[in-house]
Amino acid sequence: MEHNPLLNGISVKEHDETRQGEAFGSNPATQLNVNAPANGKQFYVESYGCALNFNDSEIVATLLNKEGYGITTNYKEADLILINTCSIRENAEQKVRERLRQFKAVKKTRPETLIGVLGCMAERLKEKLLEQEQMVDLIVGPDAYRSLTELIQEAASGHKAVNVLLSREETYADISPTRLSSNGINGFVTIARGCNNMCSFCVVPYTRGRERSRDAYSIVAEATMLFNEGFRDITLLGQNVDSYHWQNEAEGSLSINFAQLLAMVAAISPDLRVRFSTSHPKDITDEVLYTMLAHENICKQIHLPAQSGNSEVLERMNRTYDREWYLQKFNRIKELIPECAVSTDIITGFCGETDEQHADTISMINYCKFDFSYHFKYSERSGTPAQKKFADDVPEEVKQQRLDEIIALCRFYAHEKNKAAVGQTFKVLIEGPSHKKVDGQLCGRNTQNQMIVFQGGQAQKGTYVHVKVTATTTGTLIGEIV
Ligand code: SAH
Ligand code: SF4
Ligand code: F3S
Repeated sequence: MEHNPLLNGISVKEHDETRQGEAFGSNPATQLNVNAPANGKQFYVESYGCALNFNDSEIVATLLNKEGYGITTNYKEADLILINTCSIRENAEQKVRERLRQFKAVKKTRPETLIGVLGCMAERLKEKLLEQEQMVDLIVGPDAYRSLTELIQEAASGHKAVNVLLSREETYADISPTRLSSNGINGFVTIARGCNNMCSFCVVPYTRGRERSRDAYSIVAEATMLFNEGFRDITLLGQNVDSYHWQNEAEGSLSINFAQLLAMVAAISPDLRVRFSTSHPKDITDEVLYTMLAHENICKQIHLPAQSGNSEVLERMNRTYDREWYLQKFNRIKELIPECAVSTDIITGFCGETDEQHADTISMINYCKFDFSYHFKYSERSGTPAQKKFADDVPEEVKQQRLDEIIALCRFYAHEKNKAAVGQTFKVLIEGPSHKKVDGQLCGRNTQNQMIVFQGGQAQKGTYVHVKVTATTTGTLIGEIV
């Protein structure tokens, strides 16, 4: 993972993305409400999967804090250990099971500790998880977090507690997430939950339910609050942001689409950068691209997962677009916004994928030269249309070979992009000291989301500077303030 993967779309690698409460409190304005009626209990939460899931843990933190729970970064001393899980691929679930084994060991010395499984695995496996994972006390699906405290009480009285009801309305619009592990600059705001697409390989429609768009005013209010707390780079999150559509019943006919929402958030301040993820190739519109052009502070970066470069594979995936459609969308982005970075997700070895079909994905990468990309071996998920209709027939070694080839090619193009940046000057938002912690060295991103490291002088975190890139490594650009 070369730079903050959370900003590069929601298709994050579960392993790299495991975050705990460590950096909690890095921005005092986001700390838990110390005036809360403390009940003397502490919870620990660990999150896996996409940025939406991490954001959900922050909603859970707010809900528990209201009930008087404090947070701890040491699970061994927690009264309640929560693991917010991902089901996207088999290995994501394996990781959670391994971690659960460690958590359960705590019960040997502190048997009263409660262990709860939240998120997509809870939703996918439901009560079955209680049979598979003895000593788990609570199973709570992504739409049931408001019932957490009741479930905790039930579990504390010795009954296993489960709520995995999905909702058509729940957006947690009124809950301001408690920013766990934040640098105080990059903030994430969920704008929609669930997904109405039915990509044949994907569990998300089953684990997250129907798509719902959140009240636009609550989104703007949350983004404004973040801005007032010092955040300067906000990513609007949804499985398919382009299908955002909110209708205000109170105001009759008022309806707000994604382009309009983007403009509303961008209007908060010219000093607030706005990003978004994920864009679906079938839904991204010219209106969104024109809105990006109209606002300097909407970052010139689009995460546009292709999944495959072959039309037959795309049809089996039920992505509802073909290769030509994808390339046309790609060309349109570059035509209107030539400097726009485009990143993607690719799945290798999907059911029935032939060498020729894989070669089409290679040629698509050679055409698009993505700025960044995530790649995954197809992992069959039970209950999905692909599992029911197609054989998972590409041998593991072939999936791996294709993955390796794609990784090498994408790395090459990402490095080419970095080399092309040398000599150019970018407006950079300072995020803090560079990760290598060299004296006086700062880091920040340009609008395309490239990370740049430079000597900072008097420059302050959260402010903008112009940086000329002088050199590059494979992952990072090196520059100087001009
Ligand atoms: N809503 C986003 C994707 C969210 S899931 C979109 O439609 O683009 C993130 C990524 O995980 C997907 O883009 C896909 O590349 C990958 N993925 C999803 N299901 C998978 C599976 N069963 N096996 C392997 N990769 C998968
Ligand atoms: Fe899954 Fe497709 Fe929805 Fe993305 S758009 S979350 S891949 S079903
Ligand atoms: Fe996200 Fe994983 Fe669920 S990618 S929506 S946490 S299955």
